[in-house]
Amino acid sequence: MSKQRRGRSARQTGAFRESNKGGIPDWDKKRQAFGIMFGTYGEKDFVATIFDGDSNVSEERITSVVGSFKSWYIHKPQSHKEFFNRLAERLTVWFKQQNKELIINGRMIIDGTYDELYALIPKHARVGLPLPAFDHSPQDELDLEAIEHPVWVSRTYSIETAREGLKSGKLDQRLYYLNPDSADYWKQLIDAEQYNQFFECKEALEFLVSTTTWTDFFKEQNSDGIVMLGGGSPTKDLVLIKSLLTLKPDVEHIHYALVDISQYMLMSAFRLIDSTLRRIQVRSRVQLNTLCWDFMDLLGARKRLRREGKNVAWVLPGGTIGNLDELRFFNSVAAKSVPGDLLVLGAETRGSHTFEELREILANKYRHEAFRNFIIGPLKSIWHNLDDAKSFHGALDHLKMDVVDGLEFGHSRIPGAVSVEISVEVANRKVVLLTSTRYEEQQLIDYAGKRSFELVNIIASKRNPEFKQFVFKQGSPRND
Ligand SMILES: C[S@@+](CC[C@H](N)C(=O)[O-])C[C@H]1O[C@@H](n2cnc3c(N)ncnc32)[C@H](O)[C@@H]1O
Repeated sequence: MSKQRRGRSARQTGAFRESNKGGIPDWDKKRQAFGIMFGTYGEKDFVATIFDGDSNVSEERITSVVGSFKSWYIHKPQSHKEFFNRLAERLTVWFKQQNKELIINGRMIIDGTYDELYALIPKHARVGLPLPAFDHSPQDELDLEAIEHPVWVSRTYSIETAREGLKSGKLDQRLYYLNPDSADYWKQLIDAEQYNQFFECKEALEFLVSTTTWTDFFKEQNSDGIVMLGGGSPTKDLVLIKSLLTLKPDVEHIHYALVDISQYMLMSAFRLIDSTLRRIQVRSRVQLNTLCWDFMDLLGARKRLRREGKNVAWVLPGGTIGNLDELRFFNSVAAKSVPGDLLVLGAETRGSHTFEELREILANKYRHEAFRNFIIGPLKSIWHNLDDAKSFHGALDHLKMDVVDGLEFGHSRIPGAVSVEISVEVANRKVVLLTSTRYEEQQLIDYAGKRSFELVNIIASKRNPEFKQFVFKQGSPRND
């Protein structure tokens, strides 16, 4: 069928081309596009959003649909009819929101090509979507403003290389986010069945924005911005941005600064935030600053982080604090924050678990394929340095996971902290690949308190009460 005829028939009949062999055509591009169209991040988030509002749909069902995604590259879906029907309904509503009357059905999604779907999408709604293989719209028909967005780049940061990490016996956690596959591997990790922290954190943030701690801060105080420390969670960014837009109806521009050391993570988050804000027609109300910067040293970033004379909320979600040197982190935020600023810190706590119990719980969390993929990038650099590529996959099978006293092993500054330590033997030496720390709650609060951040609220996740958003207020005079 010619390109032109195919396009015309899709538009005339509203049906996509039928095809009986192979998997779902262009499934990869379709998945990417649906993520952008529905403002979701990762597969679990996407499937949950499609089933949104249906309390009969369990976590297991969502996981089962996500688990089938891979197989749909190879053969057509044998089950999950309900998912495709729901997706079709949601797409029909989506098109209507874009002022296009069109009835989509499950077959169209399963049998049509991505190019056919793309051709149906009005031009103004295509921003951020993967381009089709054929029928490229002339560039001047796309909304190019998105591409002109500046990224502010630090002049000072330096990253420890994998070779240096090998020498010191511990890899810099930033290395995991500095390769082109980082955003994809991160998404695989948050989609993994054993790794629910992303959603626990998002749920607790959604609750936080309804509390008076948050609403009073933005309604009553001279505050108009948020500084998000780390990408990798654009759906959380959207929760915060939408809340701020609602709380500040009279402010022309709210300020949202997104700081990440990795251009890959930064851009992946930016694309979803930008296209969603455009779709809901509020983009012009958000001053979105993307900074390729080290948040452990924000030297020179002040003007891009906040407006002079205004308070902001600093946010470090997702348990990232547990991968960092807490002293450097608090010092860095203290240097750029002012009295009255909020600091929201998402952290996993120990609860009343003993070491042995934690070992059991955490072993599950880190023993799966998505986690192996996540650590593969920096690990490859080490092997590359050693010219020992042959043993690489063997070593992956011998990753060692320990649960240790964080303070004693130098992974945390805070007494009572328990750290997961993932390591591997390289040339008879232990190299720590990654650490992740859980806190003794009161100790974390005391540690922050000594660095001028006073606790004002704690919001626990309902799914996992050990994951908490700690909300602090900066109480000391500016110190830089
Ligand atoms: C664990 S991931 C994403 C966490 C995510 N924000 C969430 O809520 O689930 C951590 C992110 O922080 C970024 N990051 C880590 N250390 C950083 C640093 N020192 N400065 C800036 N960004 C950093 C990484 O590049 C990555 O995008």
